[in-house]
Amino acid sequence: MIASSAATKPPISRYVQSDACVRLPYAYTGQSGVLGWSGLLPTMVITDPEFQWLRHWVREQLGIHLSEQKRELVVGRLQALLREQGFASFHAYCHALQQDTSGHALNELVNRITTNYTYFYREPAHFEFLWREVFPPLTRILRQQNNRDLRLWSAGCSTGEEAYLLAMLQMDYLGAEYPQWRAGVLATDISQPVLEWAKAGIYSAEHLERLPDGLRRKYFQPQPDCQTFRVHPSVRDQVVFRRLNLMNPRFPFRKPFQVIFCRNVMIYFDEATRRGLLSRLHQCLEPGGYLFIGHAESLGRQRDDFEYILPAVYRRR
Ligand SMILES: C[S@@+](CC[C@H](N)C(=O)[O-])C[C@H]1O[C@@H](n2cnc3c(N)ncnc32)[C@H](O)[C@@H]1O
Repeated sequence: MIASSAATKPPISRYVQSDACVRLPYAYTGQSGVLGWSGLLPTMVITDPEFQWLRHWVREQLGIHLSEQKRELVVGRLQALLREQGFASFHAYCHALQQDTSGHALNELVNRITTNYTYFYREPAHFEFLWREVFPPLTRILRQQNNRDLRLWSAGCSTGEEAYLLAMLQMDYLGAEYPQWRAGVLATDISQPVLEWAKAGIYSAEHLERLPDGLRRKYFQPQPDCQTFRVHPSVRDQVVFRRLNLMNPRFPFRKPFQVIFCRNVMIYFDEATRRGLLSRLHQCLEPGGYLFIGHAESLGRQRDDFEYILPAVYRRR
């Protein structure tokens, strides 16, 4: 599924500081797009060279592989952006993308083409495994070491459901002991609008549908509109949301994580991009630390740096 429409998102600040742009090793030299006509609005037509350049650019910047089959969908979404921003053609837009050094253009593009679909308790076996098989030995070992540092990362967190659930589980698992731990969850995404949504922590009943009742009652406050629910401040305080492009060659963490959730993000990457990201995730995991990926994803063949544990669950060797 492609990103939900911007109209359903809460208001956002459009321009934010972004990661530095990666420059492509070649220049955009496409031909000018032609104006077609569909219904009442002029349709901007993308030429083959323009689409190929855009594909390459998106892959370099975001790791996202836009297949030929996605062409119509992507062009449809970008047309709205071009109109809003006053570009007369894809030719002009591609030039502007290439010239932009502020990262704003990349931000705008990301918001149109990324897939942000998620909900609370997606792929529940992962959370059950975390509770049953990861937390008990991990917290026992940390206690033995007199270490109270529990580090979880939700990479590609979208609108925050996964990250908040991880925080709730941590809090429930540690119970009264929780305040004595340096716990909490780091949640990152490339898209600023989804991060703003996540920070607000307000969700419709539909987003919470699959969450066990106990968690819903304990950690959500019904809002005055009677249709939405807000994550309790005690949980919101435990999640730090940051913008991070997983394509960055290095990640800015001082300490490795014991658990990384990077689910349903790599599915849009090609094999080489996936391999590079997995190596960087490996470096950010403690030896013996767990990596959770989406059930539709795989680590690929010949990876002896991760041990397979369960479908979509791996352990750093
Ligand atoms: C489908 S959502 C996954 C949400 C959640 N992890 C889950 O499994 O339900 C994928 C998220 O990955 C983010 N994403 C895509 N490319 C990215 C990149 N290069 N760096 C960081 N985040 C990226 C998107 O913005 C989107 O919010």
